Order: sequence, then structure tokens, then C-alpha cells
Amino acid sequence: MTLLVLSFLVLFPSLLLVWYLHIPRSFPPLPVIPIYVSLLGLWSSMGQDEIYERWFRKPLEANGAVIVWFAGRWSILVSRPEWLTDIFRNEDLYVKAGSQIKNPHSVIATLVGDNIINSHRNWKLYTSIMKPGLQKKLFDTTSLLQKSRKLVDVLIAKGQGPIPVNDDVQKWAVDVMGEAFLDVEFESLGNPNDVPLESLQSIIKATLFSPIYFTFPDLDRFTWLLPSRKRAYEIMREFDDRLYTATMEMIRRTSKSDKLSHMLVDAYLTNKITEKQLRDNLKITFLTAHENAQQLVNSMFWQLGTRVDVQSRLRVEVLGLSDIHPNPSQEIINTLPYLTSVVLELLRLFPPVSQLINRVAMQSAVLGGDLPIPKGTFVGWNAWAVHSNTAIWGADAREFRPERWGSTVDEMHGRFRRETVRGTYIPFNAHRRKCLGQGFALLQLKVLLFVLLGRVRWVVDPEY
Ligand code: HEM
Repeated sequence: MTLLVLSFLVLFPSLLLVWYLHIPRSFPPLPVIPIYVSLLGLWSSMGQDEIYERWFRKPLEANGAVIVWFAGRWSILVSRPEWLTDIFRNEDLYVKAGSQIKNPHSVIATLVGDNIINSHRNWKLYTSIMKPGLQKKLFDTTSLLQKSRKLVDVLIAKGQGPIPVNDDVQKWAVDVMGEAFLDVEFESLGNPNDVPLESLQSIIKATLFSPIYFTFPDLDRFTWLLPSRKRAYEIMREFDDRLYTATMEMIRRTSKSDKLSHMLVDAYLTNKITEKQLRDNLKITFLTAHENAQQLVNSMFWQLGTRVDVQSRLRVEVLGLSDIHPNPSQEIINTLPYLTSVVLELLRLFPPVSQLINRVAMQSAVLGGDLPIPKGTFVGWNAWAVHSNTAIWGADAREFRPERWGSTVDEMHGRFRRETVRGTYIPFNAHRRKCLGQGFALLQLKVLLFVLLGRVRWVVDPEY
């Protein structure tokens, strides 16, 4: 009897685990990335680039796609450009399905909800409300210049010697996003006091990207067993409430403007969207508009601090302009060719959104006429795989070489557009669901580089 109970106790969980982790038989015959690779962060300090080289590059480049465990399920990760454009073009077949669909109970779904980036059903509604606040013919550079100058002041005030930049870059990115899209001045940069909405960001990032919960979001169900998950939900709710309150207070104090938050609140007050939809879209704006810029600027400090030749050449170009235009407009700053090529090359080698698996096949399909995709399969893309493939970008694909973009701004923009349409350059994704903040993001980095290079030189600390 005891033996029977014991074998049941062992057998039942093992069978459950086998069922949970099995690869669906309908999946196409692609290489499988072992599940432990998703958990390496638990015991190894390997960077994402090293992990990619060791486990992903060969099978992805040979097959154009692999099977990978991502956020609680086996999915298909694609890197062949023709297949990617097939996914991006066929928006109604490979439909957006973020965490709110994939793992609705999870901490990450609580954070992001249903929003303009991850929604399929409500995307048109959200876009009709938000697009005018995200895309402008011309953005005013006054505030961008002022906030970038403040970042440089704060970094200079730290004195000579090694300076970690990430914390101040995050504050700068939050302040820029707040002013540009929410009409809220957070003033976190250089502030001796904590600004809760900003300081919560570091906690949120650490909570979300903890390897075990990111890989197995089903664990989020066990709040009664895992106090850290209970806390995680509380943190997400705190962020939600604080942001909603800050926005509504701003609306009470200020007159109407063409900024995004005004449009969203107006849509809520006229019953076009619910309070939850307002909150979800405020949160995704806050997150996406600061986090990607933050990552890109960190990469920029690294890359130009290791390639001082590029830094020096860019400084010459920038100083040439600042002599004539100390406060350049968007139109003026966009005339600088080397600056344009450096920014495009940074986005190629350091795409802030390097991988996303957030689309689901609504029907059985054949990707690019070659790869069978069963109905209900999650598919996604890896930008680093595409951008660093020598078969696509040439033998020097992994080198930082701004010159590859051409010599005039028109030539560079032409190549940018062509590569995006072909699915060979996807830092902002491509086709209908491509980034709506792209124009602002490019300007933001250009303005920061303009200010930074005019005032400081830097190298990466050899100890880093
Ligand atoms: C360097 C900075 C940025 C990068 C690399 C970036 C990248 C991306 C990517 C890859 C997507 C597609 C996501 C997907 O396929 O699910 C996206 C979508 C989006 N991004 Fe950005 N982004 C940046 C900055 C911004 C900014 C500043 C905003 C302003 C709020 C913004 C707003 C959006 C929106 C609204 C979408 C959804 C577009 C749609 O589905 O119609 N992004 N972004």
C-alpha cells in the first residue's frame, strides 16, 4: 500500500511535468533550443550575446527558425527575413497576442494589460486616439535640448574617474518621456529625493525579468506559496495607481494640449475607452517610451567609449553645426549625415527590443510558402539574429561601421526604408505594426549626442 502511494506521489508529478513540457507533435521539424538555456540567468553570468553565439546562431542561420521555450510555452522563433516579412505583412493571420492573452493571470499581464502595442482587437481604436500624440510632423527640440544638457551637467558633476551612467540615463529617459507624452514633469534627474514613479522602474525591471518567473509565468498563480509574487502584483498595482493619479492631477491643473495623455483622458471622459484601457495605455507609454531609449543610450555610451575614432569624427560634425545653430531644430539636426548613420548603426548592433514572441497563428499556415505553422502556435522574431547575420549584412556584420549606411542623409534614409521593408533591419519592427514612436526616438538620441559630444569625451573604464 505504502509503495503504491509512493509511486503515485512520484509518478503523478512526473507525468504532469512531461505533459507540461512536451513539444506539440504538430510542430515543424526544427532544431529545439534546450529549455535550460532560458534559465541560464539563474546560475550563470553569461550575457545574452554569449548565449546567442553558443546556442542560437548556428541552428537559426541554418534553418531560419528554431523551437524555443518562451514565457511558459514552446514557440517558434524566426530569423529568416522572407518569413519575417510574411509574419509582419499578414497581421490578421499572425495576430498580436501579448501577455494579456498568453498568460492573463501573470504579473507581466497585470503590468501591461491590453494596450496599443499588444492588442489586436482594440488596436484600431487605440491608434485612432493615440497616433496624433505619438507622431508629429516636427517635434520641438527645446525641452529635449534642456533635458539632455541637464544629464550632461549631472554626469560632469560626478567628477573625473569611473562614472556608472545607467541610473542617470534612466532618470533622463523618464523625464523626457514624461514631458513629451504625458505632459508631466517628473524632474527625477538631479533630484536628491526619490521620485516614486521613476524609482519603481528599477524594481519593476528586476521583478519582471527574474529568469524563473519569466520562463514559467504559471508560477505567478501561487501567490499563497510565493510571497515574492504577491509583492510583485502589489508593485505593479502601485505603479498603475501612481501613474493614473499623476496623470489625472496634471489634467486638472493644465489646459488641453496635443500631448498623448490629454487625448487618452479625453477618450476616457467621452466613453470611447474604459478606465482600465486608459490606465493600460498610460503604462505602456511610460514603459516603452523610456526603457528603449535608456537601453539605447547605455549601448551608445559603451560603443562610442570603445570606438573613440567614431566619437571624434562625430564630434567634429556636431561642433561644426553647434557653431552656427547652438539650439538646432529637428529639421536642422536631421541634416547631419554622420550622426544619422551612427544612430542607425547603433540600432542595428544594439536593438533595444532584441526579441519578441507576441503573435499567434489564427489558422494553420505555411510561413513564406515553406514552413508549416500549426494553428495556435506563438511565433516571434529576433532582431539581433537578423542584424548580425553575415549572409545578410556581409562579412563585417558584427562590426560597428556607420559608413555602411551611405554618405548622404537621403541615401541613408533610403537604405533604412528598404531594409525595413525587406525584414533585414527591424529595430522598430516593420509594416503595419511598426513603432509609432520611431521618429521621436531617433530625434531624442540625436539631440543627446549633439549636446554630449559638444561638452565631453569619454572612454569605457577598462575594469568594466
Ligand atoms: C529606441 C527607442 C524605441 C525602440 C527601439 C522601439 C521599438 C519598438 C518595436 C520593436 C515595436 C514593435 C513591437 C511589437 O512588435 O510588438 C514598437 C512598437 C511601438 N512603439 Fe516603439 N520603440 C522605441 C521608442 C518608442 C517611443 C519613444 C514610443 C512613444 C510612446 C514608442 C511607441 C510605440 C508604439 C505605440 C508601438 C506600437 C505600434 C503599433 O502596434 O501600432 N516607441 N516599438
